[in-house]
Amino acid sequence: MGVYRRVVRPVLFRADPEWIHDRSIRLAGWAGFAARAMAPCFATDDDRLKVTVGDLRFSSPLGLAAGFDKSARAVPFLAALGFSHVEVGSVSARPSAGNPRPRLFRLPAQQGIIVNYGLPNDGADQVATRLAKSTAPVGVNVVNTNYGPDAPEASDDEILDDYVHTVTRLQDLAGYLCLNLSCPNTRDGRGFFQDQGRLRALLDRLADLGVRKPLFLKVAANADFDPLLATATEFGFVTGFAVNLAPGKPQGVRSGHPGAVSGKPAEPAADKAIRDLYRRIDPARHTIIGSGGVFTAADAYRKLRLGATLVQLLTSLVYEGPGIARSITRGLPDLLARDGFQRVSEVVGVDA
Ligand SMILES: Cc1cc2nc3c(=O)[nH]c(=O)nc-3n(C[C@H](O)[C@H](O)[C@H](O)COP(=O)(O)O)c2cc1C
Repeated sequence: MGVYRRVVRPVLFRADPEWIHDRSIRLAGWAGFAARAMAPCFATDDDRLKVTVGDLRFSSPLGLAAGFDKSARAVPFLAALGFSHVEVGSVSARPSAGNPRPRLFRLPAQQGIIVNYGLPNDGADQVATRLAKSTAPVGVNVVNTNYGPDAPEASDDEILDDYVHTVTRLQDLAGYLCLNLSCPNTRDGRGFFQDQGRLRALLDRLADLGVRKPLFLKVAANADFDPLLATATEFGFVTGFAVNLAPGKPQGVRSGHPGAVSGKPAEPAADKAIRDLYRRIDPARHTIIGSGGVFTAADAYRKLRLGATLVQLLTSLVYEGPGIARSITRGLPDLLARDGFQRVSEVVGVDA
């Protein structure tokens, strides 16, 4: 990772962040043919790290968070970097251009990114075609289509239909589903599902459809968890919860750019959310996916101890480069051994 930090990153960081993100995904998509050869260099095969969620088996708790490969263009290559799973999306029923550019800004001094993408993606049909060819463990993150700031406001039914369409189209191609209920950067995403009636209506629709895959609800780190849990608990197919960025700027981040902040500045709120959620759930029934500022094995380990069963990252891939998953999964066993644990599943929630 030293070479990436000293040589590659300074070059990449001279260019526009979205341009680099786009080119990286295209390059990774093209390099998919090399995934099988690369995988042994990055993979960790260690029984202590193995995680089970229902029928799903993960080689480690560490995955790539939604938002890096929004349209499933590069899953085999990204999985070969040592992630136990790649969450693609957010994917919506129709293709979306997202918010007007520029909409992605680096915060190098704080190891963060300001993200105001507004959910650009190629839509469920295109993603289905790509996932049909993938054998890697994939989560599909689902959201409603963002038709842009000038589009007429969607009705409640239109928004729910959008989610249902994408779940219908993609669930058989996914290892798990994650409903993004909280995009901080779109009009519909900010507050729509704070109304529990709407969340119940969506989950009722999915119950009628028949959800065949583990399903997570991704909610803002600053959400009100009690009403959410009361609603979610009514639906047996809800497997757990994932923590998203909170809207606005965390303490200490001053910027005129609109958008939510990922990476290190997001860490305190994410950690608090994981602990608060864990204290409220029945861990035998619900599982937490934690993300927000995971740069090291110690960061991932702390999230496990606070209550996350799966841990994801995105921003540290940008700052630390393609060796990040390997460095974290290789560091975790030492932390387990230091504290006298045999396997990661024993650690989940011990600090909550
Ligand atoms: C550039 C960028 C795009 C993102 N896009 C999405 C998205 O489309 N859907 C989603 O659920 N989360 C999205 N996220 C949130 C991440 O999945 C993750 O929860 C968050 O960034 C915290 O992890 P990190 O600090 O390791 O980046 C995005 C984050 C970033 C930085």
